[in-house]
Amino acid sequence: MDNPQLHPLEVNPKTGEPFLRLLSHKNIIITPTRLDDGPARIPHLNDERIYRWLHSPPHPYLPEHAEWWVNHAKQTEDKWFAELKAARDDPTPKIVDFCPVGSIREVLEDGTEVFIGSIVIHLAQQPWELEGTGRLKQETPRRDAGDPDIWTFGDWLAPSHHGRGIMSDAIQTVMQKWAIPRMGVRRIVVTAIEGNAGSVRVFEKNGFAFRKTIADVLNVRGTMRSVHVVEWRLEDEAKMVV
Ligand SMILES: CC(C)(COP(=O)(O)OP(=O)(O)OC[C@H]1O[C@@H](n2cnc3c(N)ncnc32)[C@H](O)[C@@H]1OP(=O)(O)O)[C@@H](O)C(=O)NCCC(=O)NCCS
Repeated sequence: MDNPQLHPLEVNPKTGEPFLRLLSHKNIIITPTRLDDGPARIPHLNDERIYRWLHSPPHPYLPEHAEWWVNHAKQTEDKWFAELKAARDDPTPKIVDFCPVGSIREVLEDGTEVFIGSIVIHLAQQPWELEGTGRLKQETPRRDAGDPDIWTFGDWLAPSHHGRGIMSDAIQTVMQKWAIPRMGVRRIVVTAIEGNAGSVRVFEKNGFAFRKTIADVLNVRGTMRSVHVVEWRLEDEAKMVV
């Protein structure tokens, strides 16, 4: 019997691997991390078109960085899937604190799956992301309906695939299919390094509003960089629908 706790993830019938298929780009899926993903990450995260807009991966990005990341992500996701498995007898999908899939892959015509990027959603931690909430940090979701937790996205895509609407679709897919219904996400604040117009546009296309630019606030590999902050609230979307 299918595990109702995986809903609305699909399950690959051959491998048993759960995945989300993008809403519009049907040949793109988001899966768990695979232990052999490391080598594919290295050229992308050493590509200036990607790393200049990211503040957390080390540069240069070495095989040991990729190996550490893949092992860490896999262990974390395995725990999440174990939690979903343990609840499989409950027919009502429970609200969880995580999205268990984050590796973006293109499915080629011959069925080969090529790793092309990453999308993660987690609790926001930067002070400007938490501004106005009275919170200094967020370790676990509080799930207080009157005072929503602040979530944030981190994402990147292989330059060979830029400009085709893939990340806009991936953000929409994760929000609509998992973050809102399965994580109870109601507010998201995202930080983009100043000048990252493509990323700001991706979020604006998904209903985010530009909040502000803050000067020289983020330490990116030893240089203080300015950032753009964009914000999404479920209640604003509900108002738009009405
Ligand atoms: C940001 C990123 C994820 C976007 O992925 P993508 O799949 O190419 O994005 P999409 O094709 O869905 O949308 C990009 C939008 O930005 C626009 N855009 C791209 N570069 C732009 C620029 N320099 N100035 C203005 N708009 C730009 C595109 O025209 C498109 O908007 P449109 O659909 O209205 O034409 C990708 O460029 C990337 O990986 N960048 C490096 C890492 C990064 O910046 N991560 C985000 C950190 S906050």
